Amino acid sequence: MRVPFSYLDRQFADIDAYLGDLRAFVPSGDFTLGKPLQEFERRFGELVGLPHVIGVASGTDALILSMKIRGVGPGDEVITTPMTFIATVGAIAMTGATPVFVDSEDGFVIDPAKIEAAITPRTKAIVPVHYTGNVADMPRIAELAKARKLLVFEDACQAIAAKLDGKPAGSWGETASFSLHPLKNLNVWSDGGLIGTRSAELAEKLRLYRNHGLMNRDEVAFFGHNSRLDTLQAVIGNRLIGSTEEKTEKRIGFARRYDEAFAKLGDRVRVPARRPGVRHVYHLYVVRVQKRDELLRFLNERGVEAKVHYPIPVHLQPAARHLGYKEGDFPVCEADCKQIVTLPRAPVPDRCRSRIYD
Ligand SMILES: Cc1ncc(COP(=O)(O)O)c(C=O)c1O
Repeated sequence: MRVPFSYLDRQFADIDAYLGDLRAFVPSGDFTLGKPLQEFERRFGELVGLPHVIGVASGTDALILSMKIRGVGPGDEVITTPMTFIATVGAIAMTGATPVFVDSEDGFVIDPAKIEAAITPRTKAIVPVHYTGNVADMPRIAELAKARKLLVFEDACQAIAAKLDGKPAGSWGETASFSLHPLKNLNVWSDGGLIGTRSAELAEKLRLYRNHGLMNRDEVAFFGHNSRLDTLQAVIGNRLIGSTEEKTEKRIGFARRYDEAFAKLGDRVRVPARRPGVRHVYHLYVVRVQKRDELLRFLNERGVEAKVHYPIPVHLQPAARHLGYKEGDFPVCEADCKQIVTLPRAPVPDRCRSRIYD
């Protein structure tokens, strides 16, 4: 039996509905910041429970623009965890700031107890990553950030519709960054991202910043980027967004079944502790296994597309060499990277796969 990692072909098997939407939209010529984008931003805000949403070109851009608009730049340090996809750290580096790492904890998110020790006079911000769809301990992080006058930018690229104590991911930071990459829980047909924020003032600035700083056709408030979420992608997003809650519930259901099954295996499969109050949305279902590489080979040979996200922690990547970290600096993350395995969470066939980093 083949158990694929993603289910993109099944998801878009009924392509006529999507093409119908595009056919109806194209004659309008409303391609740049068009009406479907405004509708999608509004509906996404309702989905994730944030009042202001700004569509941008990718989750990576969402992070970069969020940090830059709040003045993060050269000379600043930004704290995050090496247990993440490279984009979190790349985004910090792209602002000109220096990434500073703090180890992760059992749930693959930043360990709040270790943040204080990483703060220096140059620390400007913390970027907690809601990795795998779990939510970092935001009340504790927000409290610490307030006490130390630090900004918080939530990387919610893997955490669309995740919550903690009923509050949506994105409720604590300046902004939350979301990704619409084809493998994300809400996905479009290309790259795409969204910034969510509770601040009307920040939202207004970000709307200008993603569009060259243009106040209108002829006047520019400040220099900015061209990082608009493509209106064509918003057309696709508008068709999909209505089913995101249902799909999220399905993912949660699959994860629960896995958790229950693995609980019977004792130490052979270590499921991370599920923190009470978290609505984990399982962008990735990750467990720890001692003989990880053997298990991976065993599963892959039998058609089960298990993967590893990711075998090399960010601080040990060649790209991070100049930061001066070494093996042993972040023992929890390093041990996890040797033992983690991501299991497929949708047992349906797959023929259309992302060639970038699935
Ligand atoms: C944790 C995390 N941060 C940031 C990103 C970047 O998002 P995008 O691929 O839309 O640029 C991703 C995407 O995979 C991610 O998983």
